[in-house]
Amino acid sequence: MTVETDTLILHAGKVCKHFSRPGDEQPLVVLDQIDLSLSAGDSVAIVGPSGCGKTTLLNILGTLDRATSGEIEIGGRDVTGLNDRDLAQVRATQIGFVFQEHHLLPQCSAMENVLLPTLARGVLRDGSEQQRAMMLLDRVGLADRAGYRPDALSGGQRQRVAIVRALINQPGLLLVDEPTGALDQASADGVMDLLIELNRHEQTAMVMVTHAENQAARLDCVLHLASGRLVSYV
Ligand SMILES: Nc1ncnc2c1ncn2[C@@H]1O[C@H](COP(=O)(O)OP(=O)(O)OP(=O)(O)O)[C@@H](O)[C@H]1O
Ligand SMILES: [Mg+2]
Repeated sequence: MTVETDTLILHAGKVCKHFSRPGDEQPLVVLDQIDLSLSAGDSVAIVGPSGCGKTTLLNILGTLDRATSGEIEIGGRDVTGLNDRDLAQVRATQIGFVFQEHHLLPQCSAMENVLLPTLARGVLRDGSEQQRAMMLLDRVGLADRAGYRPDALSGGQRQRVAIVRALINQPGLLLVDEPTGALDQASADGVMDLLIELNRHEQTAMVMVTHAENQAARLDCVLHLASGRLVSYV
């Protein structure tokens, strides 16, 4: 008999992050014993004032930065002790990032930007990436903009390209930092609709940092980061 277990996509255990401060013996404690677990399809909003550590937490969850102490598991694997090369492979295959700024390459078309992460994955291309890229661009209403460079796209369109780029490798985990900060209400709502639809449709676990309470409330759970601790909103 096989027993089905609900594999955790992400597990953070007792994660702490300290920054040493010049001229001060006491380090700045930004994250203090953070615990967080997500399974496939879960969505979590992280809210809190500017400077409280939201981006620092996302970077550590996404292995872009290392915790001072504590452990991170991605897809059931402890990544805490991995070297930089192995961490890059984990990121390329299992994690999608949407940053506050879109970080699209200006000299590349929307399609080329979307396909960039498939290069980092290090597998031979067989054309299926291109098909998936077009399917996702179509889903976000940009099929007819695939050949456009970022400077010929609106802010909301650029952010949608960045979201498609984050999803091209079918990551189990999507980490999103203030995706709509620079957008007007209608574009922000459209980007949120898209992220929630993809979270449900592709069962991608999602952690989203946002200042917007109405956006946070659309996710499964809202966690407040305060004094280095994550507290559930009730
Ligand atoms: N590399 C670093 N060295 C020293 N201190 C840092 C470093 N990175 C971040 N910090 C400090 O850690 C704290 C948290 O920064 P972080 O960028 O995570 O905040 P945030 O919650 O994302 O803020 P915002 O909402 O403005 O984006 C800040 O006080 C910041 O100055
Ligand atoms: Mg930030």
